[in-house]
Amino acid sequence: MQRILITGALGQIGSDLTDELRARYGTNNVIATDIADPSQDVLDAGPYQFVDCLYAEQIGEVVKKQRIDTIYHLAAILSAKAEGNPQLAWNVNMNGLVNVLEVAREYQCSVFTPSSIGAFGPGTPRTRTPQDTVQRPTTMYGVTKVAGELLCDYYFFKYGVDTRGVRYPGIISYKTLPGGGTTDYAVAIYYEAIKHGRYTCYLAEDTRLDMMYMPDAIKAAIDLMEADPSRLKHRNAFNVTAMSITPEDIAASIREIIPGFIMEYDVDPVRQDIADSWPDSLDDSAAREEWDWSPVFTLDAMTRDMLEKLRLKLQPSETVNQ
Ligand code: NAD
Ligand code: SER
Repeated sequence: MQRILITGALGQIGSDLTDELRARYGTNNVIATDIADPSQDVLDAGPYQFVDCLYAEQIGEVVKKQRIDTIYHLAAILSAKAEGNPQLAWNVNMNGLVNVLEVAREYQCSVFTPSSIGAFGPGTPRTRTPQDTVQRPTTMYGVTKVAGELLCDYYFFKYGVDTRGVRYPGIISYKTLPGGGTTDYAVAIYYEAIKHGRYTCYLAEDTRLDMMYMPDAIKAAIDLMEADPSRLKHRNAFNVTAMSITPEDIAASIREIIPGFIMEYDVDPVRQDIADSWPDSLDDSAAREEWDWSPVFTLDAMTRDMLEKLRLKLQPSETVNQ
């Protein structure tokens, strides 16, 4: 039986992953943890505990008491926020991960840890970026992601800890807002399309990046954790992607449903520099070969679903007449 701990469970990915894991494995088998204040809805939805990943004893206590066998480690500082406070990013992204891995080693837990397109840098081939290639990122986020990939591999080879992970692209979702990444525009654009019928984008119109709708991101995590280990040649840094798109592509997709949608640009040099250092598109053939990865959502299917779900979520007073 799976007994699961999720760190960073109140974040963008954690809030969706918690619901899906509870639907699959039973509410009481999934312990959500974070350092943020939980809403009453979170407390009512299932087991929740405060766990700061910077303290290994807090992680170990829950793992021991709750007889956890699988950890989804999502607590991290994302790229744009990390450039604002690189020391915090190093501390949370590296020491939090070391603590999780040490607890996993002691209690024989499996561990899922996401890496990112941010693990690549300007020297990486930009298109169809291979699974195994140059990784010299120029951001603190990227430095911690590359080191994290290596550290997770090390714990597998040295200690036999069952570590697995994917390199997520930008993730788009409606449940919880993103936490300070470079790709956050791709979520904000949908909110603003509904609220105001227009959006001012902080990345230039032709900035091409990989993206993925949240249901596919959740599917990737769970499919990989359930994959037959004998098929895995890689472990901790599978390239995964669903679409390679620019801000203009998303705007055009929104205009199919909201014809009057207006897109403007006011480029933020910090986030533009980060985006320009990342690949245009990933080659995810290793994930397809080793654990049958295959995304479901195209850009237009995602746009239809995002706008439908956000219209239900946002108050009528927040939406413009369309
Ligand atoms: P998020 O910023 O939305 O959530 C992170 C959560 O971690 C927050 O709820 C925060 O309160 C919590 N946290 C921060 N410091 C903590 C600490 N010391 N102890 C415990 N919790 C702490 O991030 P996310 O988008 O959900 O990302 C989850 C993981 O996926 C991260 O590793 C991230 O790098 C990776 N990822 C995300 C994306 C994306 O587009 N969202 C893309 C690529 C990779
Ligand atoms: N979406 C993430 C970010 O922009 C990519 O890792 O930080």
